[in-house]
Amino acid sequence: MLGAIAIVCFAIGAVTALPEASSLRYQYVQDAEGVSHLVDFWDTKSDLSDAARYNPTTENIYHLFTRNNPSVSQPLLHGNTALLSNSNFNPSKKTVILIHGWRTNVTGLLGSVMIPALLQGGDVNVIGLDWSAGASTINYLAAMANTVTSGAAVAAFISWLNSATGASLSSYHIIGHSLGGQQVGIVGRNLDGQLPYITSLDPTLAGWITNPDSFNATDAVYTEVIHTNAGVNGVLLPAGDVDFYPNGGVVMTGCSGNYCSHDRGIYYMAESVISGGFTGRECSTYVTAISGDCDLPGSLKMGGWEPKTGVSGIYRVDTNDSPPFSMD
Ligand SMILES: *[C@@H]1O[C@H](CO)[C@@H](O)[C@H](O)[C@H]1NC(C)=O
Ligand SMILES: *[C@@H]1O[C@H](CO)[C@@H](O)[C@H](O)[C@H]1NC(C)=O
Repeated sequence: MLGAIAIVCFAIGAVTALPEASSLRYQYVQDAEGVSHLVDFWDTKSDLSDAARYNPTTENIYHLFTRNNPSVSQPLLHGNTALLSNSNFNPSKKTVILIHGWRTNVTGLLGSVMIPALLQGGDVNVIGLDWSAGASTINYLAAMANTVTSGAAVAAFISWLNSATGASLSSYHIIGHSLGGQQVGIVGRNLDGQLPYITSLDPTLAGWITNPDSFNATDAVYTEVIHTNAGVNGVLLPAGDVDFYPNGGVVMTGCSGNYCSHDRGIYYMAESVISGGFTGRECSTYVTAISGDCDLPGSLKMGGWEPKTGVSGIYRVDTNDSPPFSMD
């Protein structure tokens, strides 16, 4: 049953992990509710059969929100032209796609914070992907495998949407959080042609350090990573064209737990599309970004609507501990 989704509240949604060494067999991975699960990274037989039950082409739901339907979605499905032609999708406008993480869905924190912010800041198509058919499994290794098949399915959906409406790849911006922050890269590398702009909010660390499917800088023309729980739930090393380490990238001001820090980039990104802000200063390495000893002359704004095409580097920005987060 395909239902419209109303964004009514701030659900708590996040994802992910405690420190990873790829050689460790057992690791704790935190889900969207901040609950830690002990994952056996060697236990693959049941994971593969679990993952095989998920068909992202038919089970992913693409919830369209626009200024004409800001709070109740119009669900789209790959290949369903009737749903598409009855929707408010406007191919001449920018389209922002949101991809959530493990054990959450389109009404989780990413959607409930970013959808209203994007529609306040811009007259755009917002598509909240719901891949909870693949993300809700308690089996983390299956969710990782489903991240890869879902990413390919999202790329196929974008190609179908463009051919059905005349929309162009150059009008897209994709934003993912946590396991969705890994999936955005898989979307990018499965398209014919490059997306102009991908934002990865604290991409998941556990299981991704040596993974060939990990997000990297070549997945779009311009890629930006916002590290908010680096080395704990999110990846530590720079992974995009530009990597921001707000407040040093590990513990966010105003947060007491890792779970809060891991989610904080969603709020920074939301504020950036409404009011701008967040001017960062350039650092020579991620180590100096973490310590705050950044003495390069460059400065750059974190997040926002436009890709900073051609720019690369590592930046630190310090924030307030509650909204408005930007100190600009
Ligand atoms: C969506 O995910 C949230 C956790 O982020 C959960 O509380 C809620 O029950 C989920 N909704 C559905 C319909 O599964
Ligand atoms: C990025 O990922 C692609 C696809 O897996 C791979 O071909 C490429 O070598 C990677 N680039 C870097 C810098 O890791």
